[in-house]
Order: sequence, then structure tokens, then C-alpha cells
Amino acid sequence: MFGSPQFARAWYPVPGIGSLHWKTMPPSSSLKAVRGTRDLLPPETALWNRIEQTARNVFARYGFGEIRTPIFETTELFARGVGEETDIVSKEMYTWEDRARAQSEKAQSLTLRPENTAGVVRAYIEHKLGETGQLQKLFYIGPQFRRERPQRGRYRQFWQIGVEVLGPPSSGSESPVRDAEQLEMLATLLDELGVRNWQLQLNSVGSSEDRKRYDVVLREALAAVKDRMCPDNQRRAETNPLRVLDSKEPADQEIIDALPKIADYLGEDSRAHFQAVLAALDACGVPYTVNPRLVRGLDYYTRTTFEFTIPSGDQAGSGLGTQNALLGGGRYDGLSEMLGGPKAPGIGFAIGEDRLVLTLQAQEEMDRNAGAAGLASETWVQKLDAYIAPMGAERNAAALALARELRRAGVSVEVGDGTFRLKKSFDAADRVARHIVILGEDEVATNTATVKTFATGEQVKVAKADLGKMLSHEGARA
Ligand code: HAM
Repeated sequence: MFGSPQFARAWYPVPGIGSLHWKTMPPSSSLKAVRGTRDLLPPETALWNRIEQTARNVFARYGFGEIRTPIFETTELFARGVGEETDIVSKEMYTWEDRARAQSEKAQSLTLRPENTAGVVRAYIEHKLGETGQLQKLFYIGPQFRRERPQRGRYRQFWQIGVEVLGPPSSGSESPVRDAEQLEMLATLLDELGVRNWQLQLNSVGSSEDRKRYDVVLREALAAVKDRMCPDNQRRAETNPLRVLDSKEPADQEIIDALPKIADYLGEDSRAHFQAVLAALDACGVPYTVNPRLVRGLDYYTRTTFEFTIPSGDQAGSGLGTQNALLGGGRYDGLSEMLGGPKAPGIGFAIGEDRLVLTLQAQEEMDRNAGAAGLASETWVQKLDAYIAPMGAERNAAALALARELRRAGVSVEVGDGTFRLKKSFDAADRVARHIVILGEDEVATNTATVKTFATGEQVKVAKADLGKMLSHEGARA
């Protein structure tokens, strides 16, 4: 309907000063989702739901509870939390001035959340969760917004499945056990989802004191080479040298590889903490690679930082092109204090759900091409239990009543239309359901239905009272 010529000629509202003006839409224009955003439609949404359900199941087994924070926050929260010099805050935020409407309201600068760690820590402080003395184990699933150049695996509205574990030091929030447990949980989640070929890379970016020491050394080293670097890196060398290490600029890679490594400037505590994380991962059998350049693009990180990637290339099947980071995370031991809260060390991660979907789809495609039926190739679109085909319009009401009864008994049902010819009913049923339930004059009169099972070709007449058991998934498996 929206693409129809009538709609193009319809009236639509234009915000004006003090009132709405109406004018006709130019016939050539068509409404589309905004660049970098997209609609998620069935059947793909079934895969999204399966991912989210699996994540919820895994998180529940590890003792996490769900937190839902607002989609927008004050701009200041992200400037202070994520860091003013980061790409996210300096270039990518959707920010607007929210004008005061009433005397009780203040005008303020608001921003669509580009990530959710800052919002969760804000909520932790606001609700005084630290006063419980308990470790807070929280997860969230929701959209985030960054004005990035859209490409495969990179969108302006994207979804994250994230986790934050934080609490007062007395709750054990600083323990390397927390880091290793979270990484082990991620390995379990990816395995349960059927994601293959993931690689865990991790590093320690040290405490804020270690970072200060390293910053001096890095600035000195960069001063000698920055003239040979791209303009972005020249700027970062001055404003936030650590960000140079994240740079993907191909021409600068050789110079960056030769810069001093943060691992050589870690204090004894940070070094011991990192070694304990690695030892716990070894004990759990979680494979990893230490990547000394992994500093991540947000300023709040301290000590452990990590990413799970899927190598690009046909063999691994990431489906992500150059955006190969499936998820990222790390410790943020000073973030709560940076936001004016109590000491609350923490560690978390966020999975890019869009990228997880692309990866699972690519790996499933590979399985199909190879003729294999692995976990990832398990079909995620479930067929309905039954399609009810009324024979003649007079049977429509009876069909709907039967559908109501079966649905209430837990059977998934689609209802056809009595005007359809038998062949059309069979074709429609075969596309969406495992059984067709034919409801003709005779069946309605005798309280029965004729059921054909597509997988076996078997056709039987069944008493209405036995239909539910026969059609349901459980009945099919028995
Ligand atoms: P991040 O590395 O900025 O970290 O994002 C985490 C993940 O979100 C990325 O690895 C990627 O999969 C996905 N992602 C980021 N930007 C986009 C985009 N434009 N389109 C699609 N996917 C994207 C954070 O956001 C931190 N808050 C993670 C964290 C939680 N650290 C501690 N706790």
C-alpha cells in the first residue's frame, strides 16, 4: 500500500512553526528506511530470536539478570564515560538539543546511546546498587546508534547483546576469576549457537597509572614518526596516543607495529592479574591469542581487553568482510568514579548481534554447499504443525473454530480459505506446515478431519478429539 500511487499523492504532515502544514508528496519520492538502518523481517527474525533465547539461557545459567536502560541519555554521560577523544564521541553520536517545554524542565543535550556500558554504570550509581555489597551481574539486549559509514556488518542502528559485571571491590569484582569466567561464558555461548572458527584475542592495557607511564613513552615514540602517518593518526598522536594503536590505516601499520608495547610498561599488579586470567583460561581449555596491540576504541578500559573475531576468508565463513570483530569488551575499573560514583571495578562485553547473524548465515550457507548438516545448518525456521484447509466457504467458520481449539491446545496452525481449490490448498500447506488438515462436509458432519503428513505422504482420518495430540510436535516425535 505504501508503494502505491495513491499513497504518493496522499497528504502528509510537515512540521511548521506552531502548527502542522500539509502538502502533497512529490510522486517520484518513496519512503525508505534511513541510510544505515534496516528492517528485520521474517523468516530472518526467527534466527535473531533463537540467538537471543540462547543468550538468555546461557546468561541464566551463569546467574545474570536483565537490565533495561533508556535508549537516550545525556550527552555528558558518553563524553565523560566513553571519552571525548574517541571516534564514537567525537564523530559518531546522534546528539540533539532537547528544548525545555515547561518551567520545570531544563534544556539539555541528549544523545542516542552509542553503547550501553556507560548507561549501565550510570544506573548502578543512580540506584546505589553498590550498597547491596553484591556483585552485580547484568545483561542487556538492544539497539545502539553510531553515525558510521554503513557497510556490510556496520550499521547506524545496530544491536548489541551485552553483559556487565561490577560491584564494590569487597564483592570480588576485581578478581581475575571474573575475567576468565566471562570469557569462558562467551566461548560456551558461541559454541551453543553453533558459531565456528572464532578466535579470542586479548591483551592488558594496564591500570590508569600504567597507562600514564606508557602514554609518556608512546608520545615520545610517536613524535619521531608521526609526520609519516595519516592525518587522523597525526591528530591522535597529539590528543590520545593510545588510539593510534587501534588504527586500521594500511599505510601506517608498519610504523605502528614498531611502537613500544604496553605489555612492557605494566606494573607488577597488572602483570600478575593478566597472568592469572590466562592461567584460568588455560585451566578451562579456552583457546586464546595475546594481541599486544588490542587497546580497543573506548577510553574507559583498564587491564584486560578482548575481542572475538572470525577470520575473513571463505574457509572460516565470517560473512563480515572487513568488520571481523564479532564482539569486544574488557575491564573498566575506574569508570564508576569517572562518572561520580563509588569505586566499582567491572568487566563486560558487547556482541554485535547483526554480525553474529551474518556469521551464522554465512556458515550455514557453507554447510549447505558442502552438503553437511552441522549445528549451524539446523533449520531455524520451524514449520507450523498444521494447515487447515476448509473445503468450500461454508466450512470457513468451522475451520476457524478448529484452529482456535488446536492453538489453545498448543498446536501451531495456519488457516486457509474455503474458496481455494484443493491443489492451491496443498501447495500453500506444504510451504508452511508439516500436516494439512482437510475439513470437508463429511468431516464436519462426523467430527473428524482428514490429515496428510507431508514427510511420509500418509493420509488418515482422525477423530477431532485426537487431532491435537497427533499434530503437535510431541505427538510427531512419539
Ligand atoms: P564496541 O567494540 O564499540 O564495544 O562494540 C562491541 C561490538 O558491537 C563490536 O565488536 C561489533 O560487533 C558491534 N558493533 C559496534 N559498532 C557497530 C556497528 N556500527 N554496526 C554493527 N555492529 C557494531 C562496546 O560497545 C562496549 N560497550 C563493550 C563493553 C561492554 N565493554 C565493556 N562492557
